[in-house]
Order: sequence, then structure tokens, then C-alpha cells
Amino acid sequence: MGLAKLVSGVAAEAIAKKGHFSLALSGGSLVNQITGLLQLEGADKPDFSKWHIFYADERVVSHSDPESNHGQMRRSFLSKAGIPDTQVHAIQENLSPELAARAYEGVLLNLPKTVCPKNPRGVPQMDLILLGIGPDGHTASLFPNRPQTAEKNKFVVEVLDSPKPPSERITMTFPLINAAANVFIVAMGIAKAEVVQRVMEVQSLPGALPAQLVRPHPGHLRWVLDFESASEINPELWDSERAHPRSEIPKKAKA
Ligand code: 6PG
Repeated sequence: MGLAKLVSGVAAEAIAKKGHFSLALSGGSLVNQITGLLQLEGADKPDFSKWHIFYADERVVSHSDPESNHGQMRRSFLSKAGIPDTQVHAIQENLSPELAARAYEGVLLNLPKTVCPKNPRGVPQMDLILLGIGPDGHTASLFPNRPQTAEKNKFVVEVLDSPKPPSERITMTFPLINAAANVFIVAMGIAKAEVVQRVMEVQSLPGALPAQLVRPHPGHLRWVLDFESASEINPELWDSERAHPRSEIPKKAKA
């Protein structure tokens, strides 16, 4: 419920400010984690009629394929939330990854200001981007040491050989992610403890841990963790110049 309340709070603020709320999200377990939004009551209950949904990354498969993030979203969240279909921006089916990426970027660039304004450099500013994180430090479909992590000009690019199946995907790039007003990296469970520790406390080479490149400016980054995923980090050492950033992974986390 913690994540749901945080998202609902950002949504209410965006709606109060500009009438609409733009949310982009990744796939994986995140899709189930946001279903808590459907249970919120009273002042926390979201006004879904003002929500606009986008995908931070998506697998290039048909919407009916079990691997489709949009398909999963439709089944577990959208069908229940009642967000108008015209406000749900799925990737276009039956296109090559290259064309799907170009088409999706076109959608983002042509949104009304009330949904997604552009910053002074012309970059669309989502109200909130929700990202997951993989064991190798990937986020969205930005995988370690791949050229997509260094993209400077395009806002959406194709991935043709994703190490996480399915291999063909499209993904938002860092210029777009880092222009968002808010970005949450959501990592739950003990399986995420080691990567959370590495991303937060171990300095890596640029692109080696893509999640370290999530640095919204002037927006805000928030990590949403539970006790298990946070069990390897030592925030009490973060102010110590000698201890942070660490250059070594603690032995316990390596095992
Ligand atoms: C995807 C993703 C990917 C995902 C992480 C975490 O489509 O697979 O967008 O970045 O968010 O791999 O996935 P889990 O939360 O399922 O571990």
C-alpha cells in the first residue's frame, strides 16, 4: 500500500496543478505492485479519469502476448481502474522495433501541455516514471554497457537483443527519464538486496549499472524499497567521505 499511496499523492498534485496526470511504467513485477492503487479509499482514492498511461519500456510483441507489458496492465489494472482507453498509450502493434520506437516517440512529442509539458530543451516531462530494476542493474530496457544507455538525442529507442527475454523491445532513454518530474525506482524482496546495495553504494563505470544513471533534474528520484531489498545498504555511512561511495561489494552480499 505504501507505493500506491505515494503514486496517488503525486497524481493528485499533478492533477491539481495542470488537470491531468502522466504516468509511465516499466514491466515485470511492477505491474502487480501498482494494483494497490485500486484499493485506496477516501482522500487517497485516485481520480483515474485524469490519468494518462505510458510505458517506460515495452516488449515488441502483440498486446495479447503474455509477455506484453500493456497486456498485463490491461488484465491486472486498466480493466479495473476505468482509465479511458484514449488515455492509455500502448505501443503500436505489427511494427518493427525501430518503427515502433519512432512511433512511440512521436506520441510523446505530440501530447498536450496539460498531459505532458516539455522542458525548455523540448524534452517531454512525465509527471511520474515508475521503474523496476534487474539483478544486473538494468532499468527499463536499458541494459549494462549497451549503446542505449548512452543515447543523448532520441527519447525512445529500440533494443534488438535484450539479455532478458523477449529480445525485441523499445525503451525510454535517459534524456527522457531524467526530464521527468518524479522517478521512483521500485525494488521489493530479498532477491533485489544485492543489486540495490551495488547501485546505491558501489561506484561503477558509466553504463555498467544503468540504474545509477537515473538522475532526474530538476525532478525528484525516490527509491521505494521494503525491509528485505534494503537489508544490505548502510545509510548511516553515507555521510562519511571515507566510506561512501564504496568501491567494494560487502562479502555477505556477494555470496
Ligand atoms: C521489463 C522491464 C524491466 C523490469 C526489471 C525488473 O519489461 O522486463 O521493464 O526493466 O522492470 O527487469 O523486473 P522484476 O520486477 O519482474 O524483477
